[in-house]
Amino acid sequence: AGAAVVPGSAAALGRRDRAWADVAVPPPFSVPLTVPEAAVPVRRTATTDYYDMTIKHAAAEILPGVSTSIMGYDGRFPGPTIRAEAGRRVVVRQTNAMMHETVVHLHGGLVPPGQDGHPADAIAPGAQRQYVYDNRQPSATLWYHDHSHHMEAEMVFRGLAGFYLVKDPRERGLGLPSGRYDVPLMLRDARFDEQGQFLFEMDDFRYRNTLLVNGRPQPYMRVDARKYRLRLLNGSNERYFTLRLGEGEGQGEGDAMTVIASDGGLLPAPLTATSVMLSPAERVDVVVDFSRYRPGTQVVLHNTDGTSEETTNVMRFDVGHRVPDFSRVPERLGRAADLGEAIVTRDVNMNLDLTIGQFVIDGKTFDMDRVDTRIKRGETEIWRVHNRDVRPSVPHNFHVHGTHFQVLDRNGQPVTGHEAGRKDTVAVPIGGDVRIKVRFDRYLGRYLYHCHLLDHSSMGMMAQAEVIG
Ligand code: C2O
Ligand code: CU
Repeated sequence: AGAAVVPGSAAALGRRDRAWADVAVPPPFSVPLTVPEAAVPVRRTATTDYYDMTIKHAAAEILPGVSTSIMGYDGRFPGPTIRAEAGRRVVVRQTNAMMHETVVHLHGGLVPPGQDGHPADAIAPGAQRQYVYDNRQPSATLWYHDHSHHMEAEMVFRGLAGFYLVKDPRERGLGLPSGRYDVPLMLRDARFDEQGQFLFEMDDFRYRNTLLVNGRPQPYMRVDARKYRLRLLNGSNERYFTLRLGEGEGQGEGDAMTVIASDGGLLPAPLTATSVMLSPAERVDVVVDFSRYRPGTQVVLHNTDGTSEETTNVMRFDVGHRVPDFSRVPERLGRAADLGEAIVTRDVNMNLDLTIGQFVIDGKTFDMDRVDTRIKRGETEIWRVHNRDVRPSVPHNFHVHGTHFQVLDRNGQPVTGHEAGRKDTVAVPIGGDVRIKVRFDRYLGRYLYHCHLLDHSSMGMMAQAEVIG
């Protein structure tokens, strides 16, 4: 990491984005959106869907007319979307066809430690590993991605990420927009060199100023004038998105979106939002009714956190004709989670330790042989997670494997909107703290918790809890 920008340095504090890839990046909204292809089971039994995937180096056309080297599940950028049914097992046989190790994590999956993609369980080059996912959890937008020791930032940046969508029987009865009106959107940034190849340098977030949606630069999508479910995932390593929908430049209040789900699944009831904030790895599902726009209207998804044209224009929806729409958003959606009374309270401290130049949790960098926290299965705890950094360039967020938590408050203020639903990742503001209620109900063993700014976790901002009986 010799060339990394030291966070907090003068260079890191300069927030101006630099037009790095003028040569290759097309103007906004000139490329059509694509939706990642569905993974197709190689075999289905009464209880189980079997998939085979090969993790390999491949080429993808991300910028028009340019072939970019990527790492991809089945060579795709992003990876194929797995659609799972709650209660039906999914078995994915992953073959590592790369020259170095990899490990696959199902982010948001309530799976046993052995299936969770711990960095200690790496798949050697040429080897295979079967991941068994029971899908004993409600409908949710999950994703799978690399979790290699010290390497997840680079490997996810280069393409090792895909959607994993769980649907439960309860959802089927709700009448939400489905089929081609249910669209996963992986939002992220990237940095390209003059040849249109990915340029990855640890923590160089200032230069990652090309926005991609499902692997396409600032695309447009033709939509019918009816309701759509949009599953928004922040797949960036370090970039935050504050998303608004609207015609024109994106000034003022955004148009209403109906928020229906957070990381862990459907909210108890829909809510209306004019803006949603997503830190890396967070998901929110919204329903947008394009029938309220006249055919021909161009509706832009803006990132109000952006600092230039390149980073504010995420994608554009071009509204077409009115079509019959029998979908609806009922008043009651998922079940509210009840985590009960907390028995134990703990503090978790995250910061960049400038004396050693490392990102740490509770003063330590990640050691996969060390257990940092022991937690009893079935006991509810409150964790107060502190971001001890005050430099504006060092936000953190907090992700816990193997469970979903409830966010109680941030800097003492109750959270609202999608953040009040089931979560597995939450933004922790600079110099602030977030209190979460956590309980591990299922399996014994070790689960990671870490900052999901992947450059930070790769540099050691990660720890592990052992769930004990
Ligand atoms: Cu999405 Cu431990 O990761
Ligand atoms: Cu961090």
